[in-house]
Amino acid sequence: MSELTPAIEVCIAGTGSYLPEKILTNAELAARVDTSDEWIVSRTGIKERRIAADDEFTSHMATKAAQRALEQAGLAAEDIELIIVATITPDTLTPATACYVQKNLGAFRAVAFDISAACSGFLYAMKISKRLISDGAFKNALIIGAEKLSAVTNWEDRATCVLFGDGAGAAVLRAAKPGEGSILATEMGTDGNLTHLLNIPGGGSACPITSANVGEHLFALTMMGKEVFKHAVNRMKEAAEKVIERAGLQPEDIACVIPHQANLRIIDAIADRLAVPNERVFVNLDKYGNTSAAAVAIALDEANRTGAFKRGEHIVLVVFGAGLTWAAAAIRW
Ligand code: ACO
Repeated sequence: MSELTPAIEVCIAGTGSYLPEKILTNAELAARVDTSDEWIVSRTGIKERRIAADDEFTSHMATKAAQRALEQAGLAAEDIELIIVATITPDTLTPATACYVQKNLGAFRAVAFDISAACSGFLYAMKISKRLISDGAFKNALIIGAEKLSAVTNWEDRATCVLFGDGAGAAVLRAAKPGEGSILATEMGTDGNLTHLLNIPGGGSACPITSANVGEHLFALTMMGKEVFKHAVNRMKEAAEKVIERAGLQPEDIACVIPHQANLRIIDAIADRLAVPNERVFVNLDKYGNTSAAAVAIALDEANRTGAFKRGEHIVLVVFGAGLTWAAAAIRW
């Protein structure tokens, strides 16, 4: 998707994240299904993941991440004009999870809606809100990636249950003042020919969950892992290269690459192809697994709060997920 130079520059004024307390280790999973810590770590890099409590919903995690982002941005909830929640695990199919978040925050001036783009959703939300702010439609936006993937996991399927976790990440975007950072370039893509590689088959209008099929785990994520892997590497590399070029940068100008946190082998392959040294690539999937739309948002917040990059430096975010979908952003912090 091409992009015109925006009239108003847009910066990220604050980030936040929230992870549920309960930790589920590889050893605990190995006691439930035929797997091992060695297999999971060597194939994915994941050591443990967080699991939300039964009464902790996607909107609760989204709200906590949002409160931390608002605090860092120095904005009150009532200042927020737009809330976008990216999720494939909404509290309810309707209304949108963003509406519950609006209520929880007391952000009653905000227009609120969800987007569904799987692991790419947070960067889709970033591009949409950046454009709406730069066009002058809104002064600011709260974008959130939040997932309770434990609710759509088949805990008897070792091929998928070792991969996913729960959590939320958020960012506040607003019009930049002179000298502040800027979202320099964004890229989004979709290939609807590959919907079958990664999906939740049941629960929608194509296949409602009924008393006849309720035992078939149709509510759970299924994935053709090897195929997804190949597409993930190629699409993320291309998307990252596009935003780096469009921002007028070279790979050596990038202080930190923050990729989707699905698999360490995918991340290493992308770092190699982009010629960015591993120490400039942010990784936290060992602690949280793949949290879909939340993953890059949580990683951005952790990278920001742990000083992985400084004001004025350039970072690249790049993601990939079901759809298939992919996206990237180049940002001057
Ligand atoms: N423990 C032990 N063995 C296992 C496990 C497990 N948990 N899972 C699978 N295996 C076995 C398989 O049965 C297979 O055995 P076989 O050779 O006897 O048939 C063998 O291990 C190899 O399985 P593969 O699926 O080929 O393993 P692969 O090396 O491809 O790794 C993985 C699987 C980790 C899923 C990888 O393909 C991957 O990361 N894919 C990409 C995932 C991704 O990026 N998703 C993106 C977005 S997610 C979203 O949008 C929600």
